[in-house]
Amino acid sequence: MRTIRLEKGVVITIDQSRLPMKLVFLKLKNYKQVAVAIKEMKIRGAPLIGVAAAFGLALTALHSKTMLRAQLIYELEQAAETLRSTRPTAVNLSWALDRVMRRTYKTKGGVNEVKRAVINEALKMAEEDVQTNLTIGRNGAQLLVDGDVVLTHCNPGSFGTVEHGTALSVIRVAVQNRKRIKVIATETRPQLQGARLTTFELKQDGIPVTLITDSMVGYVMANHMVDKVVVGADRVLRTGYVINKIGTYTIAVLAKAHNIPFLVATPFSTIDLKTKVADVVIEQRDPNEVLTFLGQRVAPPTTLALNPAFDITPPEYVTAFITEKGILSPSEIS
Ligand code: MRU
Repeated sequence: MRTIRLEKGVVITIDQSRLPMKLVFLKLKNYKQVAVAIKEMKIRGAPLIGVAAAFGLALTALHSKTMLRAQLIYELEQAAETLRSTRPTAVNLSWALDRVMRRTYKTKGGVNEVKRAVINEALKMAEEDVQTNLTIGRNGAQLLVDGDVVLTHCNPGSFGTVEHGTALSVIRVAVQNRKRIKVIATETRPQLQGARLTTFELKQDGIPVTLITDSMVGYVMANHMVDKVVVGADRVLRTGYVINKIGTYTIAVLAKAHNIPFLVATPFSTIDLKTKVADVVIEQRDPNEVLTFLGQRVAPPTTLALNPAFDITPPEYVTAFITEKGILSPSEIS
């Protein structure tokens, strides 16, 4: 199922914050609504927030009333800045905005030509995301063998992309190829993407999934219950550093300690060849997400809490990257 569509002048997408209790569709009419949905994590997952941001620019182009090319470009630039400021870590967001803006500047002609170019570029990016993730699935499925138990973290699934997912695409294709794969999904505190979304997707597909709390990863590995780890990424640096959901680094260190392959399924749109590891901005979210559980306060008043949304895994913990261009070692990323 497609997670996002541009239809009749609105962006239609699923409110991921309500799943699995409620399946609510959002109809976003302008880039400001798209920006709020990204910030509040109703739309989430690196590839999906990139495409959603591109659709935000498409809405701006669609609904602009100006007859002046320069004014349209100004409106698009304003929209791009608002969308860019929503979440700092996943590089797909700025990658998508830069790509649409580049196309805008390059397009010759008047307002109508620019509008058409912006909308077409956004739609093209959504289609590419589908194809890319299918190719990632096909490439990665070769690394899984019949009977494997795969541990995954957060939701590197359809919900985080336009369709198929990244790490879950690898699992889905392996299952389509008649390999019997079982999945262990971490709950992924504090937003519970694993418990709420990954289990939901895999159950829909009939793929066996067992949920664990994040602190059970060492236990399942020490008890030989995991054959491979496959995760997604929010940013991969040319040096092979992986920025992904908080807890990924812990899983990678444990995987190495137990000799378990640690695989990162990622499209090239997530690879950032420019930024140095020291300059990566890790999103710090509201500590209340940690101080509460499903809306209920769990810590005494005045307790302090940290809430970094992502962590950084050094390349020595990564066995391989599964990309649309093939399987790459960390040193092959650049
Ligand atoms: O904060 P989120 O839910 O947007 O974080 C998403 C992740 O960390 C995913 O692991 C990543 O985007 C995988 S690719 C879909």
